[in-house]
Amino acid sequence: MMRIDVISAVPDSLLSPLNTSILKRAQDRKKVDIVVHNLRDYAYDKHKQIDDKPFGGGPGMLLKPEPFFECIEKLLSERKYDHIIFPTPGGKIFDQKTANKLSLVENILIIAGHYKGVDDRVREKFATDEISIGHFVLTGGEIVALAIIDSVVRLIPGVLNDSESALNDSLMDGEFIEAPYYTRPAEYKGITVPEVLLSGHEKKIKDWKEEQSKVLTEKWKKINSME
Ligand code: ADE
Repeated sequence: MMRIDVISAVPDSLLSPLNTSILKRAQDRKKVDIVVHNLRDYAYDKHKQIDDKPFGGGPGMLLKPEPFFECIEKLLSERKYDHIIFPTPGGKIFDQKTANKLSLVENILIIAGHYKGVDDRVREKFATDEISIGHFVLTGGEIVALAIIDSVVRLIPGVLNDSESALNDSLMDGEFIEAPYYTRPAEYKGITVPEVLLSGHEKKIKDWKEEQSKVLTEKWKKINSME
């Protein structure tokens, strides 16, 4: 079973997404073991302090190195990690290819710090992968951790049911967007579903989906300046 550990100063923020829907089911089916660690449990001074003022000045507080080192060293004494992921806007942009790769490993550790954020010795000492989920700034690594976990766990065999299969997902091979989907009613507020989908004509439907996919993929590349 794959194991994913997450270290966070705000562990409660992870609980609802991890315990809902497909991520919950994956854990219930013993396809993945997701363990959240509260950084504060590894603070050893009597005030349980986990942050402090930055050397050299500047606004805000930084997460201290010691609780991270304590927690990570304990985890490393228990198992070897294939990837120790450090979310940062300066990291490599996360994509489906990376999700596919991560879905094949055994143990992943995600260090969810706060942006500007964590004493840099933590990243320097432990991170094997610095990952960004886009060219924008979040308040912390928790949402990044959830994005990575969600995209990886759904790829583990047996997590999705056949009808949810990941095999023909958009971006599965890196480079295409799927045709749109519709359900009943066939007409709603005067807006109709594409006629061909109601035809029952398998070949025509397949051709239509391929054509739509081609158009949407071109549009996607254009609006993302990919060519
Ligand atoms: N921390 C803050 N913003 C981030 C982003 N976009 N990706 C990864 N980590 C982050």
